[in-house]
Amino acid sequence: MSAFNIGPVPIENRLILAPMEDVSNLPMRTIAKRIGGPGLMFTEFVSAMAIHYNAKKTYKKLAIADAERPLGIQIFGGDAETMVETAKVCADAGCDVLDINMGCWVPKVVKTGSGAALLKDADLATEIVSKVVRAVPIPVTVKVRAGWDYSLFAAPNLARRFQDAGAQMITLHARFAKQGFDGQADWDLIRAMRESVTVPLVGNGDVKTPDDAERMLRETGCDAVMVGRAAISNPWALRDIRLRLSGEPPLPPPTLTDRIATALEHLRLMIEYEGDELKAVRHLRGQIPMYIKGEPGAAEVRGHLTRCSSYGEMASILNDFAGRSNKVRETLASR
Ligand SMILES: Cc1cc2nc3c(=O)[nH]c(=O)nc-3n(C[C@H](O)[C@H](O)[C@H](O)COP(=O)(O)O)c2cc1C
Repeated sequence: MSAFNIGPVPIENRLILAPMEDVSNLPMRTIAKRIGGPGLMFTEFVSAMAIHYNAKKTYKKLAIADAERPLGIQIFGGDAETMVETAKVCADAGCDVLDINMGCWVPKVVKTGSGAALLKDADLATEIVSKVVRAVPIPVTVKVRAGWDYSLFAAPNLARRFQDAGAQMITLHARFAKQGFDGQADWDLIRAMRESVTVPLVGNGDVKTPDDAERMLRETGCDAVMVGRAAISNPWALRDIRLRLSGEPPLPPPTLTDRIATALEHLRLMIEYEGDELKAVRHLRGQIPMYIKGEPGAAEVRGHLTRCSSYGEMASILNDFAGRSNKVRETLASR
């Protein structure tokens, strides 16, 4: 039985993996789905301009595996025609949902009139949603921030207009664009949006634990929670949240051996995805060390991992680390 639906697409639980540039690609999602089991996942954002100019690197982001469905591709752009063109390409690539980014605040995106810049132009934003909805046969959703800056909580009004234009789900990252990632996400903003739309509303911002997720659903009335940073190199965070939200008993945390095996699997999948070992290692230099974050001695190992250039080097550093840590544990246990 589905927990909720996005138009005709059934979503099995109330947990969604956030779109994250350079993170939520096919290798990461493969692991996130298998271990964490979120009801829906999104790709990293895909530039409409890059699709328009046939950038090979961007087309790779459209690869989908059946095991990860339902999957949403997220696109960004600042004009309706290229967004329509890109939406069609993504629908043809076989995604189940198409998401429009209106939350990205970074200058390289905003200066092209894309992402959160659209929060300042309600007419253009609505035109994009309306034209994209009419162009593709799959549900269209929109991810917004609360507004451009604190002076205008634009999201409720925008969300209503997007719904009228045919959007089938709205996600709110409960910060203003000007904030970047500063401060805490203000979940009151999500609650304040609840009355604006009847389509599913997804809350996002600072959900890290099962308690956070449960509290967000309860306090805001949103239909699902979206998790980003807490899921980076930690698919078990998704698993723990999903189990809680589905009323299932918790499972023990992963062992160090589990974490290292998963980190190396992630790297192998990335090598396959990139078709180039060095590129894959470089891509994951920041993320692989996060698999062992919190373990004694992990900070030192991090330095070594960030200088690696092959799978073999990373595997040997991680396996040595596991060996040392397990020996320490055995010694402590035998005392
Ligand atoms: C590394 C990184 C990349 C991101 N890339 C995107 C993106 O491509 N599209 C998007 O809508 N949001 C992006 N975000 C924002 C997240 O989707 C999410 O809204 C934000 O991280 C807040 O959720 P969290 O507190 O669970 O991390 C990104 C965030 C991070 C940390």
